[in-house]
Amino acid sequence: MLAERFAPLALLVACLLPGAAQAVADCGSDFTCSLREAAAHAGIYFGLATKPSALGTGSPSAAVIAREFSSLTPENDMKWSALSEAPGVYDFTRSDSLADFAAAHDMRLRGHTLFWGRPNGPPQWIDATVSSAPDPAATLRGLMQEHAQTVAGRYAGRIETWDVVNEPLELLGAGIDADTLFTRVLGERWVDEAFHLAAVADPGALRFLNETNVESNPAKFEALLALAGRLVADQVPIDGVGLQAHFLQARPNRAQLEAQLTALGDLGLLVELTELDIPLYLFAADPEPLQAQAAAYADVVNACLAVPACRGITVWGLTDADTWVDSLFPFSIARPTRPLLFDEALAPKPAYDAVVAALLAVPEPGPAAQLALGLALLGAFRRQRP
Ligand code: XIL
Repeated sequence: MLAERFAPLALLVACLLPGAAQAVADCGSDFTCSLREAAAHAGIYFGLATKPSALGTGSPSAAVIAREFSSLTPENDMKWSALSEAPGVYDFTRSDSLADFAAAHDMRLRGHTLFWGRPNGPPQWIDATVSSAPDPAATLRGLMQEHAQTVAGRYAGRIETWDVVNEPLELLGAGIDADTLFTRVLGERWVDEAFHLAAVADPGALRFLNETNVESNPAKFEALLALAGRLVADQVPIDGVGLQAHFLQARPNRAQLEAQLTALGDLGLLVELTELDIPLYLFAADPEPLQAQAAAYADVVNACLAVPACRGITVWGLTDADTWVDSLFPFSIARPTRPLLFDEALAPKPAYDAVVAALLAVPEPGPAAQLALGLALLGAFRRQRP
């Protein structure tokens, strides 16, 4: 506990030593850098996925979200199934409330997600509509086009980046998932069609392919790299790849993650870490699990910062009380999994301080820079005092 409390002070001392990392950051008048201020200094987005219930006017969580994050992703409310309960019917109440909050607080908006084949992706009515149609492929293409126009068209100019296609690969394997409605009806090139539809509906947004479970699975990562490379070669309108970064089975490996981000960047694509969480059970054997978790978060941030193509990191939930991992079998067995940056009481965890410190440590020469970093770290130290 003592080590935890004095970690920022130790960093402060280290930074004031000659030759230590130097940085300039505008951390406001209290010298306490928020995540978004530190991320702006480092030149990347730091984002949050959340639900409208966290954004109520005057609520403590809304204040923290506005202060700490420069990017917002709807955790569920822009999924096709969440928007459309019946054919031709759309309800934008919840997605609009998220978009309005982002605009009011100068946050970048990530659209998540236009086309996702897994449960939670397409609405239930689609299966019956498509399979009972005389020409299922034409019917599905028509529905996809209408969906892209209706949703990406509506948010054109407001959504900066869309996860156009989510999780096209098999969950544990390496090929395109054959067991989704899209692949069954349209074949593997449904992915290409999806990007073309999104580009027509909103030519101005960046278009991402978002994939899960690749960070600790080299074979699946190679399949993702091959798919992304093939899309680029075929001039499909794709701008980037998101690695979800749900580290549910193994701790992040900084070198491996950096190599993956670099390989995707080498294709000429942008990259982001789109759904980061790192459960505490991964560190159960460590003497100080919260510190080990903090170090893992810093590793992920440093991997992104080392790769010019990496433009943002998004955490998948605000506090440990609202993580999806607590209801995801089999990981839910270890509940509470505590994978996020803020604890159940909305207090920043050691992982939060480690992320801010990693973002602020982006070097920039000059004595003023040294002083600014020192003051920012002093702010973090003051905040930790009882
Ligand atoms: C999850 C949400 O967090 C849950 O609330 C919901 O019940 C299921 O979906 N990959 C994704 C996200 O791309 O959309 C998923 O979000 C988590 C896995």
